[in-house]
Amino acid sequence: MSYPLRRTALAALLLGVSSVAMQAEMMAPTAPPDAPKFDAQVEPVYVNRSDIAEFKALPAYSEPAWVKAFVDAGKLPPVAERLPKEPMVYKTANMPDGNGVYGDVMRHVIGGRPEGWNFWAGQNYGWGGIDIGLVECLTRTGPLFEVNAADLQPMPNLAKSWEWAEDGKSLTVHLIEGAKWSDGDPFDAEDIDFYWNDVVMDPEVTPLMGASQETYGAGTTLEIIDAYTFKMSFTTPFPEAVLYAMAYGNFCPGPAHVLKPQHPKYGGASYAAFRDAFPADMMNFPVMGGWVVVEHRPDDIVVTRRNPYYWKVDESGQQLPYLDELQYRLSTWGDRDVQAVAGTGDFSNLEQPENFVESLKKAADPASPARLAFGPRSIGYQLFFNLSANGWGEPDARAQAVRELNRNLDFRKAISYAVDRQRIGDSLVKGPFTALYAGGLLTSTSYYDAASTVFYPFSQDSAKEALKAAGLEDTDGNGVVNLPGGADLNVTLLVNTDYATDKNIAEGVVAMMADVGVKVTLNNLAGKDFDNAREGGKHDWYIRRNDQEFVSVVQGISRLAPTGPATATWHYANAAGELDLLPFEQQLIDNITAFNSTQDATLRADAMKEYQKTFTENVNAVGLTAYPGALIINKRFANIPLGAPIFMYNWAEDNIIRERIYVPADKQIGAELRPGELAGKLGESTIKAE
Ligand code: GLA
Repeated sequence: MSYPLRRTALAALLLGVSSVAMQAEMMAPTAPPDAPKFDAQVEPVYVNRSDIAEFKALPAYSEPAWVKAFVDAGKLPPVAERLPKEPMVYKTANMPDGNGVYGDVMRHVIGGRPEGWNFWAGQNYGWGGIDIGLVECLTRTGPLFEVNAADLQPMPNLAKSWEWAEDGKSLTVHLIEGAKWSDGDPFDAEDIDFYWNDVVMDPEVTPLMGASQETYGAGTTLEIIDAYTFKMSFTTPFPEAVLYAMAYGNFCPGPAHVLKPQHPKYGGASYAAFRDAFPADMMNFPVMGGWVVVEHRPDDIVVTRRNPYYWKVDESGQQLPYLDELQYRLSTWGDRDVQAVAGTGDFSNLEQPENFVESLKKAADPASPARLAFGPRSIGYQLFFNLSANGWGEPDARAQAVRELNRNLDFRKAISYAVDRQRIGDSLVKGPFTALYAGGLLTSTSYYDAASTVFYPFSQDSAKEALKAAGLEDTDGNGVVNLPGGADLNVTLLVNTDYATDKNIAEGVVAMMADVGVKVTLNNLAGKDFDNAREGGKHDWYIRRNDQEFVSVVQGISRLAPTGPATATWHYANAAGELDLLPFEQQLIDNITAFNSTQDATLRADAMKEYQKTFTENVNAVGLTAYPGALIINKRFANIPLGAPIFMYNWAEDNIIRERIYVPADKQIGAELRPGELAGKLGESTIKAE
């Protein structure tokens, strides 16, 4: 604020003018400032979905010689019998380096820890690509980063095709026929039925990514037609969002033949027992993915081996995957970057800016074992306010008072004005990487519109004015604003300590809030504890790296607002299932409904412009920083698609299509930990050919 304005403010204060007059002192919001130019370093080769893969029978199939030995020993049926009638065939022309050869390992390093294998009851596998390698979903969206805009729709996967009814009110889905789980059990409509009726529609069960009926549209029903066909019926025509809700991590059915007996509806002891029935030390959990978990040493490593029933092949008939083993070293996310550039690990999503400079330096050396390429600015952090005031997370009186403030626009504006985004960005990394993020949709989605984005620029004076307008002043002169009742305002900020970036941003926010008299106390939690606190509503505010919906819009659109009782992570329903929506939240929901109700590209773009305007004008969340990430991958791997972003519709572990990646024979490093072994029976050890 300039000097004369400051004087006016002081005069106003002395005269005790009303907060309405004071508000005139707040800086007007602006358009978001231009971000420093930072182009993705490599452009994708754009194709249509049908250029990538098709479903068809081939004259003959083959497999690694060491797997053939299992067949010869009578321990596995011949490969042609293990494959579906028409496997998914990856087209050679779309493989950057063509058909591959078998062998070798991809050595991942991750910061998470597997909780157990019941994804369908909410257990996480430790992230970092473990679940992406194990579960397969009806459709797939990770690779869409390289699909032509005109053909942009989810790719078929376990659902090999689908048709809309003429009125768009139902969708008939055809599953791949004759595919098998990694233990040989058929994959069919029984798995779909279990997922729908006993996971999604069972209120006692919450799958990992929280799919509920709202994910597929309120009122949606699912009917099994035959072993390989089902039909979904909707209350609105052509809800294309359903096809995205069939991709990772929602419609990824689990193995009904092992899950069902543990589910209370079919004789399982309890929901808790169902959840814990497949602990992290239980090996060989059946999967549809390319690899099966055969070893887990806590805090050390997870080893996965090729799935002999995998249902995808290359055009020469070689069963995929090419890589025999994927390893996940259980370390920290920061160590993933360090190991990838050093060559002791093979892959990293370079996503913590604190590591950018060092990683860039190392990778620039021509002798570097790893390739590093930056993609679009698709990583964003926001500060979210808990917008529930009707009991979610059972707040005490202090927390309830904060919730009421969170629902006050002046208060949210104050917090946005108080954040010095430039300082946050610079504290993470200097240079052109970070941008001042207004919040809401990220600039890297085609739905982003700067003109529809409202930005409250950094201004401590404006922040203080806005606090006053919200009824908060430092009445006792101790530097902390007081609630109308007299107590100091004290806000807790939940932060995920798995990432240095989250902690650094949060510490910056605490200091910036102190500058305007808002006392913030950090609640530092790691891993699952953070998720539990967040999902349980045990927070006033939290900081979080965005999920897919803010960068893709279409992937996870139901999470862009409280469209259901547990969709928007900042505003869940109370125990009675009631959502106390603010008027602007209802507008956001209406914008999403408008987007979902039309196929018209212009109308869709308009709906998202409205969404962005409503979101940012009302400070639904405070944008903190946005920046690009880089994919770091060891140079020995072939078939890495050009321009694969670390994050867009999904994470790079999906985007790069790992089942198609190979290592030329002369570059293989002999790092397999379980050579010659395949997954055995659930809970038993691995098996060998002889
Ligand atoms: C974590 C990591 C990401 C990515 C995902 C995959 O969130 O931080 O880089 O590996 O896991 O699920």
